Amino acid sequence: MSANRPAAVVVLAAGEGTRMKSKTPKVLHEIAGRSLVGHVVSAARELEPEQLVVVVGHASEHVREHLAAHYEGTRTAFQAEQNGTGHAVRMALEELGQAPDGTVVVVCGDTPLLSGETLSALAATHAADGNAVTVLTAEVPDSTGYGRIVRDAATGAVTAIVEHKDASEVERAIKEINSGVFAFDGRLLADALGKVRTDNSQGEEYLTDVLGILREAGHRVGASVAGDHREILGINNRVQLAEARRLLNQRLLERAMTAGVTVVDPASVLVDVTVTFERDAVVHPGTQLLGATHVAEDAEVGPNTRLRDTVVGRGARVDNTVADRAVIGESASVGPYTYLRPGTELGPKAKAGTYVEMKNASLGEGTKVPHLSYVGDATIGEYTNIGAASVFVNYDGEAKHHTTIGSHCRTGSDNMFVAPVTVGDGAYTAAGSVITKDVPPGSLAVARGQQRNIEGWVARKRPGSAAAQAAQAAGEAVEREG
Ligand code: UD1
Ligand code: MG
Repeated sequence: MSANRPAAVVVLAAGEGTRMKSKTPKVLHEIAGRSLVGHVVSAARELEPEQLVVVVGHASEHVREHLAAHYEGTRTAFQAEQNGTGHAVRMALEELGQAPDGTVVVVCGDTPLLSGETLSALAATHAADGNAVTVLTAEVPDSTGYGRIVRDAATGAVTAIVEHKDASEVERAIKEINSGVFAFDGRLLADALGKVRTDNSQGEEYLTDVLGILREAGHRVGASVAGDHREILGINNRVQLAEARRLLNQRLLERAMTAGVTVVDPASVLVDVTVTFERDAVVHPGTQLLGATHVAEDAEVGPNTRLRDTVVGRGARVDNTVADRAVIGESASVGPYTYLRPGTELGPKAKAGTYVEMKNASLGEGTKVPHLSYVGDATIGEYTNIGAASVFVNYDGEAKHHTTIGSHCRTGSDNMFVAPVTVGDGAYTAAGSVITKDVPPGSLAVARGQQRNIEGWVARKRPGSAAAQAAQAAGEAVEREG
């Protein structure tokens, strides 16, 4: 790859993208956990260019901030008015100071499916053929909106690129289109950009005109046809945004499946580019895996699950769950209907069961919270069982407090642990207890009112009711049998 290391890659990202009808600049729209421009910058970085310049203009502060936050070291050039793709490249070369001595690759910031391999192949063809410019083209089923590649009928050589809006009927029928990706000789590019005119339907400096200019000056103009036209899909509206998301998702899932992951129903599963898997992981239908989520060997996730930045350990089972920044241990069990919030850490073989919410809570090996509970700001040891319908009362209205529960504890159903509070190792608590004081190791804590039965109350207070009749019948039956 470094054999064809370009002097510079220029990413065009100054346009507003009016067809998106959005307050967010087009290139900051996201698919698969990365902005459109982020996908392009990532692919461009694979070329290891000496310089990487992103041309910004519309909402430039917003785009600059995004690049600084996520793509450190990316240079930007400012294009105050969007006078066309040729003008944008001119701004990038001005930013670089002098015309780069070597290859300059130009890509649009709105083609997120473009791979690093395709860019490398273009740079290699460009170098091998000794071209002044090489354009990446593709045959598409519907060329509406794209610049058309005009070739000499006799030789097949590319003679010009004609924009859709400037094209004749005959030219509009051409199915070979300009992907917007080029490799140029840096010096010749700088020279030709000075000659680009604006006498077209949009009154803009078209980068595409550079081809005709170089050809007329007697330089070699080449084209490289992309193997898969879907890779150069340019996003101009939200229909194309969704289409690109679908294609990228398919690519990511195919890669995972080829590496040994079972994806039961790829059409209903969404993954981000940053998600990783180990082999024999299984993904069930209706599952979204986002951010830095990792699914280890033999783990099963889904159905109907959304995990963000969550690590799922080997052999763990995660069913009908929403989790964000959680760590799920080896062979742990989560769900169905569970919500794990940031800071949840489940040890090996731990369980977070049905209708359980957890936040900033750590459970040791084999510890179970099986049903209907909220565990917030807590540390629980190993092999402890928390009774159904328990609440870790962590908030006093102003501050959050911590609860610590030891190992091998058995806490009763319907307990409130009013933090800060500690339950020692091996302790038990009675059902229905409100635990406000520390429980020493090995004790049984009972913290509830005594039961009192008022006999004959129904007969006196609800005479003639169905309850009274049932009670009377029960009394008579006891008499008969006794
Ligand atoms: C462009 C090409 C067209 C090609 C298509 C591929 C030109 C004149 N047309 O058309 O041949 O088939 O891409 O998707 O090059 N931009 C700037 N500054 C500007 C104008 C545009 O930075 O002044 C950026 C945009 O932010 C965008 C890219 O350049 O990322 C392409 O601009 P866009 O308006 O989408 O061009 P298309 O009409 O799609
Ligand atoms: Mg476009």
